[in-house]
This record gives sequence, structure tokens and C-alpha cells, in this order.
Amino acid sequence: MTGDTQRKYRADYQPPAYLIDTVDLDFEIRSDRTQVRATYAVRRNPDANDTSQWRLDGRDMQFLSAAIDGRALDTHEYALSDNALVIHNPPEIFTFVVENTIGPEQNLSLEGFYRSGDILCSQCESNGFSRITYFPDRPDVMARYTTRISADAHKFPVLLANGNCVDSGTLDNGRHYAVFEDPFAKPCYLFAMVVGDLGMIRDSYTTASGRKVDLRLYTEHGNEDQCHHAMASLKQAMAWDEDTYGLEYDLDSYVTVAVGSFNMGAMENKGLNVFNTACIFARADTATDSDFALVRDVVAHEYFHNYTGNRVTCRDWFQLSLKEGLTVYREHQFAIDQGSPGVTRIRQVRTMREIQFPEDGGPRAHPVRPESYVEMNNFYTITVYEKGGEVIRMIAQMAGRDAFIIAVRHYLDKHDGQAVTIEDFVVAMEESTGLDLAQFRHWYAQAGTPRVRVATDFEDGRLQLTLSQHTPATPDQNDKPLFDIPVEIALFDAEGAPVREAEVLRLNSAEQSWTFDGFDAEPTVSALRGFTAPVRLEYEQSDEALARLMAHDSDPVCRWDAAQALYLKTLVADVSARREGNAPVAAPELLFEAIETLLDNPPADRELLAEMLTLPSEAMLGEQFDAVDIFAIDAARRELKEAIATRFAKRFQALADTHAASSAYIFDVAEAGRRRVFAVALDYLATIEAPGLAARAAAVYDGADNMTDRMAALDALRDLNAPERQRVLDDFAQTWADYPLVMDKWLRLQATTRRDDSVERVRELLADARFDFTNPNRIRALLGGFVRGNRVGFHRADGAGYALIADEILRLDSLNPQLAAALAGMLTNWARHVPAQADGMRAALARIAEAELSDNTREIVAAGLEQ
Ligand code: ARG
Ligand code: ZN
Repeated sequence: MTGDTQRKYRADYQPPAYLIDTVDLDFEIRSDRTQVRATYAVRRNPDANDTSQWRLDGRDMQFLSAAIDGRALDTHEYALSDNALVIHNPPEIFTFVVENTIGPEQNLSLEGFYRSGDILCSQCESNGFSRITYFPDRPDVMARYTTRISADAHKFPVLLANGNCVDSGTLDNGRHYAVFEDPFAKPCYLFAMVVGDLGMIRDSYTTASGRKVDLRLYTEHGNEDQCHHAMASLKQAMAWDEDTYGLEYDLDSYVTVAVGSFNMGAMENKGLNVFNTACIFARADTATDSDFALVRDVVAHEYFHNYTGNRVTCRDWFQLSLKEGLTVYREHQFAIDQGSPGVTRIRQVRTMREIQFPEDGGPRAHPVRPESYVEMNNFYTITVYEKGGEVIRMIAQMAGRDAFIIAVRHYLDKHDGQAVTIEDFVVAMEESTGLDLAQFRHWYAQAGTPRVRVATDFEDGRLQLTLSQHTPATPDQNDKPLFDIPVEIALFDAEGAPVREAEVLRLNSAEQSWTFDGFDAEPTVSALRGFTAPVRLEYEQSDEALARLMAHDSDPVCRWDAAQALYLKTLVADVSARREGNAPVAAPELLFEAIETLLDNPPADRELLAEMLTLPSEAMLGEQFDAVDIFAIDAARRELKEAIATRFAKRFQALADTHAASSAYIFDVAEAGRRRVFAVALDYLATIEAPGLAARAAAVYDGADNMTDRMAALDALRDLNAPERQRVLDDFAQTWADYPLVMDKWLRLQATTRRDDSVERVRELLADARFDFTNPNRIRALLGGFVRGNRVGFHRADGAGYALIADEILRLDSLNPQLAAALAGMLTNWARHVPAQADGMRAALARIAEAELSDNTREIVAAGLEQ
């Protein structure tokens, strides 16, 4: 069914021919098939251009019958194809009934209605509803839904759908039923239903105006005690949205279901969220601090969608960032308010630089609001989400936080219950804040990362600061317009004392200068503070200036960034030397002095200390080169790490001692920071195989009361040849055999281990009973872990790593095209690599292209080969 490929264009939008006021769904779940009977109240859309036909999407299902106003349709009154049911000349107002069957048990795509373990659940965004029944599967058709489910009462004691349960009871033959009504009109992508034999934890939340909300979180029996952190996070998010935006929850119940097989993180279905267990489960002994943070943030993200996404939704899928960018921004602010503000922001910046910038500079670069797509699932990207969030952040920053919040309220009031566009959002922002966003709109329409060059000139106590911008061409967009870019700066003197308060400069032409007066000596510029815009800064600062900022900058992002820039200078010089066949370049003494200063005067925030001691990732380092050489990068980074570890071995020992666990696990900023520093110290010590390190790590593994410290120990042992390594790995596998999510850490750890035969080890694990090819979390851990976390293994000179990934993509594509396409995306940036690697990656892509592929994977592979 891959023949009917059509590229869809934003410019081709047409309003729906017919609108639907109510949807009545009746699901009869049987062991072989599920019977669906759908009843719609339909009327002609006065705004439609052509109403001679009514198209209902539908795929991978068995059509039974269709009727209008109680009269079954004759075959000449409709046309049925692989992906649609088209009704010819429908009346103006009518009741439509369609009957079909679906097979959730056989559905491995994890889209539509499918099985996860013993649970049957749905995933509809973006176009999964058309795998459930025939319906105009587009978000601008909004209706009020009633859902009736009947199923075997023993196998599926819990029946759930959106909204309030208004009726339930028993039926003959051991079956039972329940009926749900959702009072809010919604697009079909927010429809959800779940049936299963589920355990549950329950709590309640009383909103500011006194509505008592029943909170329930369902999961397979036996996992309930891993759900309390998610429940607590939900209540934090509900309170935060009231305190910050004045937004209260609008239904009497909020239900979440955690399922083990899920393609994404989670889904914000109205009143019935469905989550990947990886974004719900968190217990001290099973989850790390980053897992705890992930759960907290995804739970909040889905909750925030209730307004930004559900109450006001997208007109069409080109507008996806309307809900995702705004919700990511809200999630980011929430996370900053819960954790270490500085380090939370640093992690957001790192995601942009290490993942979004490469996407924006590669063959798949697309604007935050894309112009066309073949398969919408390929556009749930870091650009639409995180860059979209950064664009919102710039608006918030230009408006001021309070004015921005008022503007969001205005947008939500103005468009409540509607399906709207990004343009509608920007207009609402302008109306409420008075900002002129004409030039700013380019951020939505243009792909690519703008480069902002900083130049300074100091004379007679005056500093002239010149900012200029340039954006490289991206596929289909050659001439880039000038962006409106907020750049926050501050100035420091030689002792690191501030001599000019932070201020935001608006760069909106090709080049602009600002002058600052009255200095005795040239001040040091701290630029793009807090990462005020998603741009690449090009600013050659001296080592001395960087060391000064690293020691004194009051903005944690710039302080960390100065450390990163210092490390990068050394690493880039070393990688370049190696590329040219020259002797490696050693780190300058000033770098060690800066680290010593940092260790002598560490920031109060332990997490910030840990981040500042961490070298730039291989991804970040790759971004510095036109042609990435994985092996030169790996060697340079490893040797700098060894040099630092050797120089400061005693200090790292001391850090490990002072930051070892001394009390029971608690997830808070101070303790998470403590654990981060401990892990970083252990990691440095492992790099040089410091005496006693393996024994110490094994002892930490044995004694820890939490997964964070335990993983720090495992990570330290990962690449060592010590006997302790295998002992703890085996112990881990035994202890957590019944916890698939925890076993993902075990899979990932081995996939990322540096060894010559890591490709072979991954192949072995693919055949291991503890691996499951139908489960996305397992695949992400093993194959995703290998590609992203084991660059040396993946890019092995004989091409075995590329061959492995190509084999698995081909095997996966017919089962789970979404995930296969995501894996294929990891090969598409071949052109950024040195020839030896580029040729191998390209050949693997070309081999994939020869097979018959899903639309998902074909779109990605084609873009990868077209460059
Ligand atoms: N709306 C969900 C979220 O951001 C993600 C759904 C992704 N769906 C997909 N088909 N890619 O929370
Ligand atoms: Zn979202």
C-alpha cells in the first residue's frame, strides 16, 4: 500500500466539505476482530468550496456498510479505496452510519488501535484515527464524542475512553460495557480508548475555584509503586499552570495510562493521556535522576496540552508547532521553576546545539512551520518542537513575561474551541502585546540556523560592539531574509566584576553596531546570555576572556559556555592537527588553570559544577567541522579527558569522596547535583583506570540505594577490562530481569561499550530473549544507543555498523514504519562526514532505497540521497 504517495502542501489547504457535530462510536471488542459502528451528525460546511464529494479516510480495515439517514448506500453512491471512502453528492444535513472491523491484535504499527502486552490501546495523532474507522482524519473537523465499549469482562476488566463514564454494566457471555461522554468538541487525533486488566493509583486535586478532580493512573499490575513520582508531578503541573497562567483543569477526571509499547513519549488525548511507561515509571531503585526529570517534564507537557493543543488546536498538521512549540516552551519554564534554573536551561541549549542545529543544517532541514510533507509522522521533529519552543521564548522575552502570559490568555480566549493557525497565534500576540512581529515571522517560515558574528573594537574608553547575521541556504530555500534576533549581552571588567548590566540588543539588519562608553580598560563581553535566540554565535574570544567568564559570569549558561568554548578551542586544534597528519596538540596551561580555579571556587549549584567539568560531546565537536572525522574527534576528546584526569586525579578522588551518597535517595536539586558531581569524578578516574577505581565502582554498585549512583558505577566500569565489570553486569541482568525498562539500561550500556567487536555484540543482543524487536523502547535502547552512543562502533572502518543499521531498518519497516524512519534519519547526515564515513553511510542508505519501503522511510531515505 505504498503506491498512493502524495506530497501535501500547506498552500493547498481547503476547508472541510462537511462538518460533524457529534460522533457516536460503538466498539465491540472480540478476540478475533473488533467491530466498529460509527454514527455522525453531518452538515455541509458553508465555507467549503466543493461539496459534491465527502471524503472519509480509512486504512487497514475491513469496510462493512455505510448508510445515510438509515438507508444503506448502494455501491454506486460511494467509492472505496485502500485509504478512503468517498461519498458522492451527500445531502445537506444527514446522519451517517459506517460499520467496519479492525484487528488490534495484528496491528504492530503502534498507530490506531493496537495491543501493548495485554492492554489494547489507541494512538491517533496525527492520522491514526483513520485506522480505527472511516472519518475525515483532519484536525479542523471537531465534534463531541460518545464512546461505547464492550469487551470480555475477565480479560478486559477496565474500559476507558475520553470524558466521563455515563453508563456501564454487564452483558451476556461474561462481557461488560461502558459508555463515555466527552463534553468538549475535539479533533479525532485526541480520541482515545484503552481496555485491559490494569492496576491503578488514585489521587485528587482541587482546583483554585474548587473543582475536585479525580486523578487516576493505570498500568499493568505490579507496577503501581513506580507511578507515584508521575502522580506527584501531575499535581505540580496542575498547580503551576494555575499559578503561572491562571489555567484550571476543565473536567472532573484526569486519567493516564502507561503502556509498554509506545512509539513516542506520550499523548495528550482529552482527559485520557496514554504514556510510554518510560515517561511514567520512576522509583529510586529503578530510575535515574534524568529519568525522574523526564517523567516530571513529560507529565507536565501532556497536561499543559489541555489548553495549548486541546482547547485550541491546529487547523492542519503544518501548524503542529502551534501546539508543540508553545507547549514545549511551557514545559521548559515549568522545568526551570522545579529544578536548577541554570542547568535546566543549559540542557535545553545543549539539545538545540547537538540535535536541532544538525537537523537544521542537513538534508532534512525544514521550517518550524513546514511547507510540505509526504508522511506527517516524519515531522514530529526537534525543529517543530524545540526550535518552535525557542521561537516562543523569544516572543516571551520581547514582550516581557507578564505581558506574554496575558497574551497567551488572550489567544486562548479568542480561539477557544477552534482549530487555528500559527498566523492566528502571532496575530493574537501582536494584538495583546503591541509588538510588531512582521520581521519576526521569518522564524516560522525559514529553515536554517542563523549565524551571528560578534566583533569588538576598543578605543579611548569606548567599546564598539558590532553584530552581523548570515543564514546559510537550506534545501529549497536559498536566499535567506534577515531575522529579528534578540541578543542579550553584559560586560565584565578584568576582575570579572560587571561593568554593564545585562541588556537585550535587537539585531534585525545585516549588521548593527552599539557603543558603550566610560571604561578604563577593555571590558569582556558576555554574549547571547541564556541563549536568547536559536543562533550560532561566531565570536573569537581570547582564552583569557573565556577563563574570566568561566570564573565570574553571572549567567550560568554563559559561564558554562565559556568553559565549553575553552575546551572546544583545544579540541578543534587537536582534531585539525590529527586530520592533517600532524602531531596532536596538547591543551594550553591556561585551560588547566581555569579548571583549577573552578575546582577551588566551585559554583554553589553542584549540577553546574558537573556540567562545567564535562567536555563538549562528540556531537558538539562534530558541529565545529565541515567534514566530521569520528576517529580524530574520538581520539582528541579521549586524550584531553585523560590529560585532565591525570592532572587532577587527586582532586577527582576528593570530589568523589565528598560527593558520595550519605543519606537515603531523594530527588531534589541538591542531591541530584551531588550525584552528578560524583558520576563525573568517577568517570574521569575511570578514564585513567585510577588505582582501586574498579573495586570502588563495584562497591558503589553493590551498596547504592538508587539507580543514579548505580548507573554512575556501571558507566565507570563500562569500558574497563576489570573482572568487576562482568560481575555487576550479570548481577544487574539477574536483579532486573522482570523490569524491561531497567533492562533497557543494560542493553544500552553494552551497545555503548567501546570494544572492537561491538557490532557483533549488538547482533548477539538482537537475538537475546531479553530483547524484543516489536518494542520501540528496546529498539531505541539497543540500536539508538549504538548509533548515538557508540560512534566509534557505528562508524567502524569496515562498514559493519552501517550494514547492521541498514539490515534492521529493512526488517523493521514493514512492522513499525514510524520507528524505521526515525532510525533511517540517523544515516541521512552522511554528507557531513569525511569521505571514508560518508561513502559507507550513503551506500547503506542506497541499499535501503532499493527495497519496497513505507512512505515514512522512503521520504527520509529520499531526502538523504538527494543532497
Ligand atoms: N502530541 C504528542 C506530544 O507531543 C506526540 C504525538 C506524536 N505522534 C506522532 N505520530 N509522532 O506530546
Ligand atoms: Zn506535545
